[in-house]
Amino acid sequence: MLDGKRLLVTGLVTTDSIAFATAQRAQELGAELLLTALDRDRERCLEAAAQLSGMPQVVSLDVTKSEDFDRLATVARAEFGRLDGALHAVAFAPRDALAGDFLAASAESAELAFRTSAFSYASLARVLADLAPPQGAALVGLDFDAAGAWPVYNWMGVSKAALESVNRYLARDLGPRGIRANLVAAGPLRTRAAGGIPDFQRLLDAWDTQAPIPWDPADAGPVADATCFLLSDLARAITGEILHVDGGYHAMAGALRAPARDASEVGEPVAAAT
Ligand SMILES: NC(=O)c1ccc[n+]([C@@H]2O[C@H](COP(=O)([O-])OP(=O)(O)OC[C@H]3O[C@@H](n4cnc5c(N)ncnc54)[C@H](O)[C@@H]3O)[C@@H](O)[C@H]2O)c1
Repeated sequence: MLDGKRLLVTGLVTTDSIAFATAQRAQELGAELLLTALDRDRERCLEAAAQLSGMPQVVSLDVTKSEDFDRLATVARAEFGRLDGALHAVAFAPRDALAGDFLAASAESAELAFRTSAFSYASLARVLADLAPPQGAALVGLDFDAAGAWPVYNWMGVSKAALESVNRYLARDLGPRGIRANLVAAGPLRTRAAGGIPDFQRLLDAWDTQAPIPWDPADAGPVADATCFLLSDLARAITGEILHVDGGYHAMAGALRAPARDASEVGEPVAAAT
């Protein structure tokens, strides 16, 4: 399905990363990969990447720095010559923007969440557009359904709403050049980023009661498969789309089952801020 495709994969930091599951699946389907890593995550990224087939090259990328995108384009051109697709799997919000009093978050934290998690999707699109072959290319980003307000997630939720909008504008402007832009709205998965969301367990509990298809938060495989589909030519007429890979949670209007446990058992928030 991805035979001969040259893909850029961002956001791989551990073997739990959605980017790792996608990279692994994309390789099985025939893709060649170029990875990116934030400098402070580089060692962990290399450790995880060692478990992929071959050892894909890892390029430094801090998505808040526009000069990093310029360097990425230069390296990708030199290494690959062209890019057939790219995965945006990056998000970050400081802790005060993720939970607690929504009205008390600082503008700086909200802006950093937006810049890292939404604006950077357009920056990656620019790199892809520069390196896309004449027959076109595919961009895929990872979303957490922003149609409503979550009990936690706060300004990251706002940033995901922005990401959804950016996706539509990219579809508008890049479609005529054969470049598609789509999002996969994933259900909650136990990754490092998820560990930084205070009270993430609440989201897992919501999926336990409301998803018609049982949802396994330890298995990023279904999200990886859908992402590979959108990166492939099988999705050649799909753009501006948000594909929910969430066990059907988004399509239900309320809980289907009683909660497995009492709200008082919900754990304390974890300390990490990614
Ligand atoms: N885990 C979930 O429940 C879930 C659900 C839906 C969507 N998503 C989205 O999936 C994407 C990947 O997250 P994940 O859950 O696999 O977590 P993860 O922690 O494995 O990956 C997050 C990545 O973001 C990178 N990153 C953070 N700030 C960066 C910066 N300034 N520049 C470059 N890279 C930066 C980190 O290095 C890391 O590789 C994110 O967009 C996240 O919002 C996650």
